[in-house]
Parts: sequence; C-alpha cells; structure tokens
Amino acid sequence: MSAPTLEVYTAPEQLTAALREDAARGLTASSKWLPPKWFYDARGSELFERITRLPEYYPTRLERALLERHAPEIAAATSPRTLVELGSGSSEKTRLLLRAFVAEGSLRRYVPQDVSETALRAAARRIAAEFPALDVHGVVGDFTDSLHHLPRGGRRMIAFLGGTLGNLVPDERREFLSEIADVTRPGEYLLLGVALVTDPAVLVRAYDDAAGVTAQFDLNVLSVLNKQLGADFDLDRFRHVAVWDPVHEWIEMRLEATTEMMVRVADLGITVPFAAGEQIRTEISAKFRLDGIRAELDAAGFGDMQSWTDEEDRFAVVCARRH
Ligand code: SAH
Ligand code: AVI
Repeated sequence: MSAPTLEVYTAPEQLTAALREDAARGLTASSKWLPPKWFYDARGSELFERITRLPEYYPTRLERALLERHAPEIAAATSPRTLVELGSGSSEKTRLLLRAFVAEGSLRRYVPQDVSETALRAAARRIAAEFPALDVHGVVGDFTDSLHHLPRGGRRMIAFLGGTLGNLVPDERREFLSEIADVTRPGEYLLLGVALVTDPAVLVRAYDDAAGVTAQFDLNVLSVLNKQLGADFDLDRFRHVAVWDPVHEWIEMRLEATTEMMVRVADLGITVPFAAGEQIRTEISAKFRLDGIRAELDAAGFGDMQSWTDEEDRFAVVCARRH
C-alpha cells in the first residue's frame, strides 16, 4: 500500500482567523447567525457520524442504498481517472463509488477535501489501506475558497455527497457551482447527493431526533467558540430548535437562549447580549426538487443530468457533465 499524502491548504491559523471573522460578523448582526462549517471540530465530526446512524436521519441511508445500486452504472457512464470529493468527512459511502470505479478500471486517484483535518486524516488512511492501487491525496481546505487549488488533469469527477450542497445559502450555492464549473473542463463530471423536498414532519424529526444527538451537534458550535475564541457560552442556557421553512424549502437549525444573558468572546474583545428566546441561526439545510437542481446546474455550465432517487423521492444522486 502507498501511504496517503495530506496537504494542508488552509492552515489552522487561517481557519481561526476565518472563525474570528465569521463570529464577529454573525454574533453582532441584528439576526444572529453562524456558518455551519464550524460544527466540525473532532467532536462535531464524531457527532455527525452518530447522526448518520440515527433512525430519524434518513439521508445517509438512502444515499448509501442509491450508491450501492447505481455506482456500477455511474462508473460505466463516466469512467473517471480522478475522483475529487468535497466535504468528504469519513468517506464512508464513497467506498461504494471507489469500488465500482476501480472495478470499471479507469480510476487512479482519490482526492478527498474537508475542513476537518481529523476526519480527513482518518478517512485517507482507511481508504488507502482498502484501495492499495489508488493514489490517495487528502486536502485540508474550505470548499468555498480553495477549489482553484484542486489537482487538475486526469478526467475528473467532482463528488459532493450527503446533501451538503443544501448547507450553502442560495448566493453561496450559485457561486460555488459556478466556481466548480470554472475549475473543470468540458466532459468532466459533477456528482451530487441532494435531499429532496418531502413531508415536513419527516424532515423536522430528522433534524430534532429523540435521543438529542442533533441537539448536541448544534450546541457543539458554541463549544468551538469557547475553545477557539475564549468565549464563555453556557451550553445549558441554549436549546436546539429545528424548523421547516416552506417558503425557502429548507430546514433551519437554531440555538435559542433560554434566559437573558451576556456572553463574553474574549479573543474578539466583545460582549454579546442575548434576550430570552433570542435565536442564533446555525445551519440551513435546503431540500431540492429535480427540476430546480437541473436548472441550477444548467445555469452553472453542467448538462446531460441523470438522476437516481429512492422509491419515496426523498433523496437523489445526480450526475451532470460540464458543457
Ligand atoms: N460527505 C460526508 C460528510 C457530510 S458532513 C457524508 O456524506 O456523510 C459535511 C462535511 O463537510 C463535514 O465533514 C465537514 O467537515 C465538511 N465541511 C463543511 N463545511 C465545509 C467547508 N466550507 N469546506 C470544506 N469542508 C466542509
Ligand atoms: C452535512 N449536512 C448535509 C447535514 C444536513 O443534513 O444538512 C448536517 C446536519 N445537520 C443536522 N443534521 C445533519
């Protein structure tokens, strides 16, 4: 087996600087918010893996079943030499694609990219051990600002699984898709896993599970601020809220202050006031319709979209080709 290589494109100091900027902007806004990428320190990545095994959280199971069933067909239709995966996390479901691509015969290289160095390191090691013929090259970076740096050449497929596209707000999403188009050549592929609009009760349960794991995941962003920026958030004075927004067709996760309080963020030199009941938006998780995603891909420069969905139309794997 050749050892995986790991490249740190975004160094820890740069990540901390970005966190400072995001926290300063989000916590002083009139409606408080934080970007979801800060959930994923080592504990957050572990909590996300626990979420994927919850009975209420269906996206991971449905996507895995779709990949199990259709990976050979995707491999035959696309024959990539390099698979780049954004927000790869544990790369657990990706193994199904790698297996099919290796069996098809063209795949040489796997490039997982994630902001969470711990998750990436462990995944790259596991994948390199399981697929000794592959060159595995992990990149620690933010997929919203490091796409131009991804390795070029070698007939690539860019995979973005798990529904993570839905965690970008619409402007970010448009920009992100067009940046992917900018860094790909005609004939290269984009493979997306997207959660679809479905029964709101099913959706809300998936983001507010009975065991409270999603609540711990949500609250973890406050622990990250405490550890990284010397903040003094009292996690017992916030509660997790998940609501379905039928206009935007997204789930919003929020943290609600249960009492009035002042929170000091020492490294930013600010004190943030909270009224009782005031909320911080911590994540949107947009749900898609196939026509909508086709139009967005088309506008960005990707066509010939093929899609595979489960029987209840709750999740889709979508593959499109750069014009
Ligand atoms: N693709 C995996 C993991 C999804 S969880 C799956 O389908 O199960 C979302 C992943 O994206 C996490 O591993 C998180 O660390 C990563 N992530 C979130 N925001 C990111 C960003 N801006 N840049 C790079 N990675 C990011
Ligand atoms: C990573 N992402 C697609 C997950 C989602 O479903 O939006 C993150 C998550 N948030 C709460 N549960 C899972």
